[in-house]
Amino acid sequence: MLKISKHVYWDGIRDWDLRLFHGHELSTHRGSTYNSFIIKDEKTVLVDTVWFPHTNSYIDRIEHDVGIDNIDFIIINHNEPDHGGALKAIMEKRPELPIYCSANGEKIIKAHFHKDWNFNVVKTGDTINIGRNNLKFIEMKMIHWPDSMMVYLDNDKVLLSNDAFGQHYCAMSMFNDEVDRDELFQEAIKYYANILTPFSPLIARKIDEVLKLNLDIEIIAPSHGVIWRENPLQIIEAYASWSDNYKEDFAVIVYDTMYEATLRMAEAIEKGLRSKGVKVKLYNSSVSDMSDLLTEIFKAKALAIGSCTVNNNALTSIVALTHEIAAHKMKGKPFVSFGSYGWSGEAPAHISETLVKAGLTPVHEPIKTSYTPTEEALEECVRAGVALAEAAGE
Ligand code: FEO
Repeated sequence: MLKISKHVYWDGIRDWDLRLFHGHELSTHRGSTYNSFIIKDEKTVLVDTVWFPHTNSYIDRIEHDVGIDNIDFIIINHNEPDHGGALKAIMEKRPELPIYCSANGEKIIKAHFHKDWNFNVVKTGDTINIGRNNLKFIEMKMIHWPDSMMVYLDNDKVLLSNDAFGQHYCAMSMFNDEVDRDELFQEAIKYYANILTPFSPLIARKIDEVLKLNLDIEIIAPSHGVIWRENPLQIIEAYASWSDNYKEDFAVIVYDTMYEATLRMAEAIEKGLRSKGVKVKLYNSSVSDMSDLLTEIFKAKALAIGSCTVNNNALTSIVALTHEIAAHKMKGKPFVSFGSYGWSGEAPAHISETLVKAGLTPVHEPIKTSYTPTEEALEECVRAGVALAEAAGE
């Protein structure tokens, strides 16, 4: 059990070995943590649990550190199984224990466990006194689930923010001032890009709403990764920036290829971009990690995506990537699509159609070239790179 403030203790699980999350959807190169908290005030409160594969060791620890019989109530900020997974094991020992959650939380917990436990629904502004602290609840609907909420302790000045402000990052320390800052922010922005980007408009509004509450915050403790205790507002400021048409000063070119003709086109687009002073990152999607690619695309100010045509469409990795860009609502970025073909050549048009439908902006007609690109075809790619640079503001 790790003390994080006068009355709050971290009692979660460090998962050094996690490499994939959300099934096999999200890569987690630096593992993760499932942050469960104990508040020891006049009342003893458990906030969130851990992912169910860790139930046995977690229950043993809670039993040892606080005693499940000594818990007065549980707060479930969000019942995705990585936080609510061990709830059933606790409730089997204490079936009468009050559970505080949002209205959607009650529905989701019932849908997971099919039990009619002692639910106490709370909404934004509700407070409970537990001794020295008042607990103030703040709903975070769709950030990132319908049930999500946060809880603030006014005496300790701690915000238990659940998934918001988290990172899939298992480190030697649980505090932001004791870990590598570059690693921490790489994991924080990857988490935002892959999990929270679809909800950016909601996040921008919610940050305004939270700031207007004028909470005096000394610690932000999310449910994954390290706890922000040195300048905790920096992660709120980062979220404000990431949720507001965020871009960094580089372009990304992603391609897939069978015999390198599409790679030659990608290199020509790169030449056009660089001729206008744009920095470029170039990735082959078939050998790249999808979650890392999405993070790079989230950060990029311009995008070029290419594939040769196979069976009237793009190669699998590019079909999947364009689907993910659309699903993550990475709107507003200028792009070009391109690719080599043998006899039909639909891939660049399909890529463009998917991205336009998703709200990205084409700056050039889809470029296709038959088999090995000619000098003229490569010159067209260079011109498309220049157009992309100009659209990106160079
Ligand atoms: Fe970390 Fe939405 O669960």
